[in-house]
Amino acid sequence: MYLQHLSLTNFRNYVRLELDLPPHVSVFQGANAQGKSNLLESICFLATIRFSRTVAERELINWEAAGEKLPFARLSANIQKAERKAQLEIILRPRSAMHHQGTLATIQKHIRVNGVARRAVDLIGQLNMVMFSPRDIDLIGGEPATRRRYLDITNSQVDPQYLRASQRYNKVLSQRNHLLRRIAACQSRPNELLFWDQELVKAGAYIILQRQRTIAELNDLANPMHDQLSGGQEKLTLQYRPSIDKEGLEMGALPEVEQAFNRVLGAARQRELARGLSLIGPHRDDLGFLVNEMDMGTYGSRGQQRTIALSLKLSEARFMLMRTGEWPVLLLDDVLSELDPERRQHLLEAISSYRQVLITTTDLDRFPSEFLARAEKFRIADGRIEPA
Ligand SMILES: Nc1ncnc2c1ncn2[C@@H]1O[C@H](COP(=O)(O)OP(=O)(O)O)[C@@H](O)[C@H]1O
Ligand SMILES: [Mg+2]
Repeated sequence: MYLQHLSLTNFRNYVRLELDLPPHVSVFQGANAQGKSNLLESICFLATIRFSRTVAERELINWEAAGEKLPFARLSANIQKAERKAQLEIILRPRSAMHHQGTLATIQKHIRVNGVARRAVDLIGQLNMVMFSPRDIDLIGGEPATRRRYLDITNSQVDPQYLRASQRYNKVLSQRNHLLRRIAACQSRPNELLFWDQELVKAGAYIILQRQRTIAELNDLANPMHDQLSGGQEKLTLQYRPSIDKEGLEMGALPEVEQAFNRVLGAARQRELARGLSLIGPHRDDLGFLVNEMDMGTYGSRGQQRTIALSLKLSEARFMLMRTGEWPVLLLDDVLSELDPERRQHLLEAISSYRQVLITTTDLDRFPSEFLARAEKFRIADGRIEPA
């Protein structure tokens, strides 16, 4: 698929943007703080209804517009898929009047797909994208929660049932934690847990199984990708670390995973009651990255972690193609500046077989001239984009 047209109103520093995009590579050049990341983030938001970094939703609305009587931000995309076109639209409005630079007004999201009002779950999966920015180094060296969020976004984009299961799981988890605290305080009886155990296992087993499948597929793709990016120096392995034991997972079917989940949950009963907290389930999973058998979260250099994150994202684009039959849009935010010339070269070679790629940079000199000759070039300055 590719993004044909992007339209933004009052989104971050874009007061008004109408941008046509080609189906191949586009390079956006601009100095710092001109709107390069915001451009790619707007596409990320249209795909997943979230920003890739943590930003309060009211900060998505342009500051000047936020002072108006009826402030709003609008994002819209026309996408071309193999068989059809689609038009996506998100309008953000504060529920109550918002003061300059934002008070605590919560934001309402109005979503339309082809002009028809939809829920968030119906939008996700329409526009598939993979975004890579220098911050993604945290995927390797950061907290497990960062990796779980990554697994959730990746799976949700290709599998609506995963998205529903994870929404259900989070609800069940918070109910169950609430109950565990009440039991610890002798306000509820332990047998009330049985119902929530079953609900936790039902929603959780599907998530575990899909995470396992996805990681196995990503591993197969990341292996040759990382070989290419590291110039044959490093053998990368992705390793799923579920909080349930791995026995049930080897069978690869839902009933076995449910059984394994139940078994581990039963064994953790006393610990959970003592802590007043759910200790078993996908919310405690992790994903490990091994290079030549060493854990790169702990032992990787920054350069190694960065290259692994890049291998992972490039593999994810191929994974999406395999799952959905469509290439996702690949968004590369200012990634060349952090790579040495050799890896830069490997990266540019690797993406030449991808479809639509949007790359931002402060400096065009980082690209070989043959590469630039084939790409569409744009200049970004102060929230405006012009062909260059
Ligand atoms: N809600 C907003 N309204 C107006 N400007 C914003 C808003 N949020 C962020 N900005 C500004 O947008 C500018 C561009 O940010 P960014 O896209 O991250 O720049 P870069 O080109 O360095 O990637 C920054 O100066 C930032 O302060
Ligand atoms: Mg930036």
